[in-house]
Amino acid sequence: MKKIKAIIVSILLFSLAPPSQAEELMTESGYSEVMLNLVENMQNILFGIMVEDYDQVSNLAENIAYHPGPELEKRIVLLKKLNFDALSFKQHEDKIRQKALGLMKAAAIKNRSRVLDRYAELARSCTECHITYREKVRSFIKK
Ligand code: HEC
Repeated sequence: MKKIKAIIVSILLFSLAPPSQAEELMTESGYSEVMLNLVENMQNILFGIMVEDYDQVSNLAENIAYHPGPELEKRIVLLKKLNFDALSFKQHEDKIRQKALGLMKAAAIKNRSRVLDRYAELARSCTECHITYREKVRSFIKK
């Protein structure tokens, strides 16, 4: 099923993206604001863990799982620029959702040790995308 989805997405991307459009100017990625929001949620989750307010942890993890992305237009420009990497970029986004939902569930049953593990996994998935894409995305932005 994942494979089929991957194929459809790549066909869509390439049929929508003639080479001339891929040259479109990018003045910002649209991700900066989204990310600041994510990191704020992560900080508040950590606080929630420390005071053992697992309802707060669960709500904030849900916010991360369903966080809004950048405006669609900006997102399309970025995905076109990423070209063959667009799919892997989206997989990182999916992974964040899965890990955040895992944290949400652990918090819902107030399992302290599992909450800590899931939090670490989520933080790891944030950095995994950064290692590959943070500088790359920034390199597209015209100064
Ligand atoms: C799908 C890839 C991806 C995932 C997943 C991801 N990030 Fe990012 N992040 C980026 C990119 C790309 C940038 C650079 C955006 C830019 O500079 O325009 C960035 C930048 C940031 C920044 C710096 C923002 C700034 O304006 O300097 C923070 C903080 C951040 N991310 C936090 C997080 C947190 C917390 C998570 C996990 C909950 C996360 N990110 C998950 C791709 C990702």
